[in-house]
Amino acid sequence: MLEDTLSIKVKRVQESKINQVDWDNLSFGKVFSDHMLVMDYADGEWKLPEIVPFEDLSLHPATSAIHYGQSIFEGMKANKDADGNVLIFRPDLNARRFAESCERMCMPVIPEDFFTELIKKVVDLDRSWIPDQKGCALYIRPFLFATDHFIGIKPSDNYKFIIFTCPVGAYYSQPVYVKIEEFYTRAAEGGVGRAKTAGNYAASLYPAKLAQEKGFHQLVWTDAKEHKHIEESGTMNILFELDGKLITPSEDSDTILRSVTKRSAVEIAKHWGVEVEERRITVEEIVNALREGRLTDAFGAGTAATIAQIAKIGFRDELFELPPIESRTISTRIKNYLTDLKSGKIEDEMGWLLKF
Ligand code: PLP
Ligand code: COI
Repeated sequence: MLEDTLSIKVKRVQESKINQVDWDNLSFGKVFSDHMLVMDYADGEWKLPEIVPFEDLSLHPATSAIHYGQSIFEGMKANKDADGNVLIFRPDLNARRFAESCERMCMPVIPEDFFTELIKKVVDLDRSWIPDQKGCALYIRPFLFATDHFIGIKPSDNYKFIIFTCPVGAYYSQPVYVKIEEFYTRAAEGGVGRAKTAGNYAASLYPAKLAQEKGFHQLVWTDAKEHKHIEESGTMNILFELDGKLITPSEDSDTILRSVTKRSAVEIAKHWGVEVEERRITVEEIVNALREGRLTDAFGAGTAATIAQIAKIGFRDELFELPPIESRTISTRIKNYLTDLKSGKIEDEMGWLLKF
């Protein structure tokens, strides 16, 4: 049915909620725009997408995603430039990752270009919801879940795809404290760590809660087998500056979510001539560098988190304080570059923005 979908049926809200928004105090993920796009999969094909008012869903109690977790999602952001054009940051990479998550979770793939077209349509309709405030954006949340009414383990025959959007402020409002986790595991080789699937986040809640009780915002996950190698953080990939080089765990294993923001940080740093190594990084290497004062920068990269500079790293009973944020040249340069690029303040030399 995909070829018939260029003009999407739109049912608009009778009254917009936009005037109820407190634009100067946006937090993350609590305010939702007027419309959402819904597209069902049944009888072996995608049905026509529709844009409808943002509303509650009615679900059968045996909806299989709720029981067995066949559910995936994506996250990206839209901003506006000074002329009012919408700018979406690298949606093609999210479309590809969504397709990869579909494959891994036995779900029907949405062709990548079509995925991006659907994003465009729903963002265009609610473009007045894109915040102008500094550090804010319209967060775009596409997700797909299994809707068979069935008690039993098998890939569902029916699915629902939805895209909604929400104006958001910062996910982390201050530099983050992270703890290197050596017991709990986010993802094991052969598992689903590379897919952006709901269960990965559910599994992280308990260990993250234990770390939060000790004053940390997030964990740094290590490999499941030996807990000797750094993987990523809960909502972001991780990068370090060590001996003048930018280093980050390589994405060869299937245990790390391939971050669009990290990929962009690596590409722009290389473009600037910074030496970047994507490789296995041991916990020992990082802890030794912390002890010897050679770790000059550390930061997370993610759509929600943006570039989140790390202020403290906990390891076993030790707490390492990193150099002051004012001295963080590389993370600050990347952060400012991405912020300015996403809001159209500088030229899109890398061709990363979808503009309309
Ligand atoms: N890793 C995890 C587990 C995430 O949830 C996210 C957020 O999307 C990221 C990394 C960062 O990925 P991206 O930069 O594509 O948002
Ligand atoms: C994102 O950054 O898009 C994510 O999915 C992370 C989530 C915790 C909001």
